[in-house]
Amino acid sequence: MATSGKVIRCRAAVAWAPGKPLSVEEVEVAPPKAREVRVKIVATAICRTDDHVLQGHFPNVEFPVIPGHEGAGIVESTGEGVTSVKPGDKVIPLCLPQCGECCFCLNPDSNYCTKSHFYESQTLMLDKTSRFTCKGKQVHHFLWISTFAEYTVMPEYAVAKIDAAAPLDKVCLLGCGFPTGYGAAINTAKVKPGSTCAVFGLGGVGLSVVMGCKAAGASRIIAVDINKDKFAKAKELGATDCVNPKDFTKPIQEVLAEMTGCGVDYSFEAIGHKDTLIAALASCNISTGVCVMAGEVASGSVIPFDPLLLLCGRTWRGTVVGGWKMRDSVPKLVSGYLEKKFNSDLLITHTLPIAEVNKGFELLRAGKSIRSVLLF
Ligand code: APR
Ligand code: ZN
Ligand code: ZN
Repeated sequence: MATSGKVIRCRAAVAWAPGKPLSVEEVEVAPPKAREVRVKIVATAICRTDDHVLQGHFPNVEFPVIPGHEGAGIVESTGEGVTSVKPGDKVIPLCLPQCGECCFCLNPDSNYCTKSHFYESQTLMLDKTSRFTCKGKQVHHFLWISTFAEYTVMPEYAVAKIDAAAPLDKVCLLGCGFPTGYGAAINTAKVKPGSTCAVFGLGGVGLSVVMGCKAAGASRIIAVDINKDKFAKAKELGATDCVNPKDFTKPIQEVLAEMTGCGVDYSFEAIGHKDTLIAALASCNISTGVCVMAGEVASGSVIPFDPLLLLCGRTWRGTVVGGWKMRDSVPKLVSGYLEKKFNSDLLITHTLPIAEVNKGFELLRAGKSIRSVLLF
């Protein structure tokens, strides 16, 4: 391509400081170095985790930064040694890399990777420099993929080639929210047919859990949210009951115990709060129940809990991006989407130009959107 090896000037939504709105700026994007890939982002969705970045909730995210991690695009150019993608390929950048070499990548039961942001902050490339500048200042990457930039650079192991037929403005959701929830049900909990499930939080992640529970054949799916406006969509996606904790004086776990007799077989927390995490744990069967933590609780949080909650046999599990080995699985998820095995489009409530990125965040904060897709 004509731009290969050159600095590209393009638009990006930059967060200059915590607590401030994003500002759409012209940025310079340097060419990819060895084993890096430069991608033209076509579409990117807004996830709650991006809002946590804007609010300054992640101590290891440095400002200024270009957020965004649910994107899809086309490879513009590749650095030396890149073999898995080439210019023109449709790709999804990966918020959880798969290096293929670490002890986790080599373990078929794990989707973790030592190149993940849990090990290093991923605000700079591997050589500790940034490929972004704006107004003469270095701008940081986010999770290495910064999909709120029209062109963005990432390591090769943080990008997956997908089917050329994929609609990028739809499959961008397969970069984070949908696989996180759907995989929490089918990979992490391994929901069995005929079982009973409770899903706490009906944002993009929780609604994807509902879809996963339904796909796995659950016979009862109880959707829990304090915003009753979320219930219609939850029912459309497979929830059999919708419960608003605000309608009760007793704790929600007692309400669910009464509804189910012995508690649910599987409970999922997709909010990211300490108290709902304990409520979800206490809502599943005391002996055989499995509770999966899909929401991200603020790092460093401490949760006091009664050990008797676990003594009788309950399982409490975490999940990161739904347990998928991302480089292997994202292309398969895209194929599943094209084969209509699931309809993640139902999560898209708004499509906006990148210039209206702040409106997208306002809709999320007001509880009026599930996923807003931004187009460049
Ligand atoms: N009880 C029940 N529901 C609640 C409560 C509560 N106490 N507090 C908030 N909720 C609901 C909100 O009304 C909203 O519908 O939880 C839902 C959360 O959805 P979003 O904010 O849209 O978040 P989402 O993108 O789905 O992500 C959920 O996963 O990836 C992480 O960081 C992300 O922790 C977040 C979680
Ligand atoms: Zn690895
Ligand atoms: Zn996300």
